[in-house]
Amino acid sequence: MTDRIAPLASRPAWKALQQHAETIRPQQLRDLFKTDPARGTRFTAQACGLFLDYSKNRITDETLALLIELAKQSGLRQHAEAMFTGQKINTTENRAVLHVALRAPRSESIMVDGEDVVPEVHKVLDKMSAFSDKIRSGAWLGYTGKPIKNIVNIGIGGSDLGPVMAYEALRHYSHRDLTFRFVSNVDGTDFAEAVRDLDPEETLFLVASKTFTTLETMTNAHSARTWTLAKLKQTESIARHFVALSTNTKLVSEFGIDTANMFGFWDWVGGRYSMDSAIGLSTMIAIGPDNFRAMLAGFHEMDVHFRTTPLENNLPALLGLLTVWYTDFFDAQTVAILPYEQYLKRFPAYLQQLTMESNGKHVTLDGEQVVTQTGPIYWGEPGTNGQHSFYQLIHQGTRLIPCDFIGFYKTLNPLGRHHDILMANVFAQAEALAFGKTADEVRAEGVPEALVPHKVFEGNRPSNTLLAEHLTPHTLGALIALYEHSVFTQGVIWSIDSFDQWGVELGKVLATKILSEIENPAELESPTAPTKGHDTSTTNLINLYRATK
Ligand code: F6P
Repeated sequence: MTDRIAPLASRPAWKALQQHAETIRPQQLRDLFKTDPARGTRFTAQACGLFLDYSKNRITDETLALLIELAKQSGLRQHAEAMFTGQKINTTENRAVLHVALRAPRSESIMVDGEDVVPEVHKVLDKMSAFSDKIRSGAWLGYTGKPIKNIVNIGIGGSDLGPVMAYEALRHYSHRDLTFRFVSNVDGTDFAEAVRDLDPEETLFLVASKTFTTLETMTNAHSARTWTLAKLKQTESIARHFVALSTNTKLVSEFGIDTANMFGFWDWVGGRYSMDSAIGLSTMIAIGPDNFRAMLAGFHEMDVHFRTTPLENNLPALLGLLTVWYTDFFDAQTVAILPYEQYLKRFPAYLQQLTMESNGKHVTLDGEQVVTQTGPIYWGEPGTNGQHSFYQLIHQGTRLIPCDFIGFYKTLNPLGRHHDILMANVFAQAEALAFGKTADEVRAEGVPEALVPHKVFEGNRPSNTLLAEHLTPHTLGALIALYEHSVFTQGVIWSIDSFDQWGVELGKVLATKILSEIENPAELESPTAPTKGHDTSTTNLINLYRATK
């Protein structure tokens, strides 16, 4: 296990940063660039095909040195080693955290409880590859002898967001004769719309659930079973039209899925870190086993970079430390993720679970109340769309919103001037945010005095710019691993457990209780009395709903 680390507030680098922040806050990026033009090329780093420009951040060399010192005093290296070597760093669940093993090469060995997990990982990958090839080639036939044309992934949270994001991101590489749909919401509309134009004889459901107990997923899976049987009649047909991606063999088999068609993973893979496990079967069917392995290689390259590169040039560490800087020293509440790549349209949504389920914690590993803000709110939309919607607030609102711009040198769909226009906008937005436009500059344009304040851009709004050659499976893997390890870095600084998610439990328990009260009205009595432990508001709302049934 890692050495005992001092509480955050008593780490010397933290105290130094508190003082240092006082001197940085009044400074303008405009002046920082004027006095140190070299920062535009100095505050950059690259790895795994990704180029990071972090010069438009409100930092100096001293800030960087102090943040890196903070990482050292927080035991970032030791914690990372503990993760990479299979120690049980998810202490509240007593689990190892080994998504890095999912992309380890065959030659590696990672021990958990005395067992090397890498051969098991590759056994599942090989089984997924063989299955994907059968679907892609048309060799896998449905119950009535027709090849599978439609793949419907049923899952939620990590069992949905990763697969749907990766499918959209890598659509360019996908098998275009196959149709992919993703059902997550327990709202019946999601299922109904996903299957309305599909033929059960040609449809394969991937039931993706680590636990195989999640209410939404199991409800959708049972509806899919009913939908399939309505046409195919025979229960034996289920084995040809359903496979499971899960850690729970018992419940998979009870559902009626042949465990030969179950693709397993392990309790040391967190849901939000599982898109490169069996949960990624839809991705593999879409892009093929070779492309999937190229994506894993991208993840792995970033893992090695994070584990071995000095912090000064370590992309995930830098990104994570900058997030801590704004969250704790500038009161920033959010981080905007702004991919200038339409294929990455679901990337911000994917990152929301990764970052917010991981670092949305209010106590430290020791169970003490944290003394600083932790995980910021991640959000975003692809550019340039966001520019015509919420960028106004980022440019001229009262909040500080650090932005991550993501762009590519080359497009996968060359079309006239489109890509140059797109990229001109990435660079322009980051420039406008950082340097703004002063009142004098506005006046010099002949703007009437009354309008001057409205047209001033204060600037001094920080951003990172990430660039890569073009969007490939390898780049996507590296990009995801970059954020995974940035989240890890933040969690280590805050001394929180980034790998549990107890905060999702209470709502689930209450929903189960309320469902039974809705389905068995006798369980809820007076519309005004707080019966069954509910407050009067909740009781009233339930009764209003029940009255409409
Ligand atoms: O409720 C939150 C959560 O547990 C996520 O962490 C997870 O990704 C999701 O539900 C789905 O869980 P499962 O894969 O077990 O269905």
